[in-house]
Amino acid sequence: MGIAFFLVFTLLSCSKDDGNSPEPSAKLGIPFASTASNITDTSFQANWVLVPEAESYLIDVSTSSSFSMMLTGYEAFVVQGNTVSVIGLSPAINYYYRVRAKRGAEISSNSNAITVITTGVIPEEPEDPTFLKVKANALANPFFVGVAVKSNQLTEGSSYDTVLKNEFSSITAEYEMKMNPISTGSGSYNWVAADKIVKYGNDNGINVHGHALVWHNAVPNWLANFSGTDAEFALEVKKYITDVVTRYAGKVKSWDVVNEAVNDNDGGLRNTIFLQKMGPNYIKDCFQWARDAANAAGDTNLLLFYNDYATSTNINKQNKVYTIVDDLMANNLIDGVGFQMHNTYLSPTKIQMETDINRAVVKGLKIHVSELDIQVNQNNDITYLTEERNLAQKAKYLEIVKIYNALPAANKYALTVWGFKDNESWIPYNTDLNHPGNDWPLLYDKDFKLKSAHTGFLEGLN
Ligand code: GLA
Repeated sequence: MGIAFFLVFTLLSCSKDDGNSPEPSAKLGIPFASTASNITDTSFQANWVLVPEAESYLIDVSTSSSFSMMLTGYEAFVVQGNTVSVIGLSPAINYYYRVRAKRGAEISSNSNAITVITTGVIPEEPEDPTFLKVKANALANPFFVGVAVKSNQLTEGSSYDTVLKNEFSSITAEYEMKMNPISTGSGSYNWVAADKIVKYGNDNGINVHGHALVWHNAVPNWLANFSGTDAEFALEVKKYITDVVTRYAGKVKSWDVVNEAVNDNDGGLRNTIFLQKMGPNYIKDCFQWARDAANAAGDTNLLLFYNDYATSTNINKQNKVYTIVDDLMANNLIDGVGFQMHNTYLSPTKIQMETDINRAVVKGLKIHVSELDIQVNQNNDITYLTEERNLAQKAKYLEIVKIYNALPAANKYALTVWGFKDNESWIPYNTDLNHPGNDWPLLYDKDFKLKSAHTGFLEGLN
């Protein structure tokens, strides 16, 4: 009943038109913008579909998808027809265009927006070619600039050899001076790679940092499966430490005696084979054996470090590390703390790093930033090193180098980068690290080209 009444009323209302008023012209349609054509480094052709009865078209071109600012000359630029060449552009830039139809004073709404990227590449600013160690050595309070190496990189005349001698004043073996490559059985050793690394450093006036005497991830099989008593196990560890430190006395300036002894969860000691068989005093014992061996070999200047990761962000862990450090200090067994600093472009923050490092500074210990690399793809959200991420990484390198360089002279030792080229870093696709994709964490790209990260390092020394 209600609906019937509504229909009758509507029909009556419509029939009121007497047919004498002029026919209004159809509303001006909105153009449909179509993809650009003839794209070059500096121009493209914008296209759209003609609208019936339009007299002209107004085109906007912008580098922002919100059209907040138009390119000069392309704000409501008037065009007849359905295409125009947009010129005077820059290579490899993302542009956007949209069109309105015009008839007299009437202007339609904006069309859809079209994205177009000009061809070519952004001309690159060359990075500062100054060598890292040259700049670091010229500081009022210099320090070693280190790099992690593999023995097969140390061939005279290789690109690694050249970069190393130019840029770095300290080396750390990436893995060949750990227990599992060196120790082949009780009292038997393979020194080939370690000797090569130490000799290379000594022959070339490059500092050698030893890494690492005791680490749960580098236990040789024979020791992992050791069937003797716990006391015999401890003697094997003592023998290993003594033999290695003795062999390299006077040749290796410093050792990471124990690496990563603290767990990530509750800030307790990590449950390693060393803890299980030797008890909680094992750290002190290892430092004592290293010290005794050095002294017996006549090296009273050997620097002993405790080395660990993620202490700047994990406060439980940080606290436990400093408990260990205090205990070692009370026994006059430690000279410095190694902060690995496998960081990301977002973390740790400046304050977190400063706070962590400063706890060792006030104790008068040497500081080694011992394994620096800075991930930019820890969330696997980029497929190439974007300019934005490249600059974020540069800023983060600058930040840590600046923090380091600001340390009092007595606390400085070395700042070591964990490898040369991005494509040879341990980080990409590392399942232990939970790193899901590719990454570019170091100072050189795969072709040994200087990255902005390298310039950031240099700027951190300003
Ligand atoms: C730890 C160790 C290093 C190295 C890295 C991965 O940080 O201290 O020796 O093994 O893991 O390359």
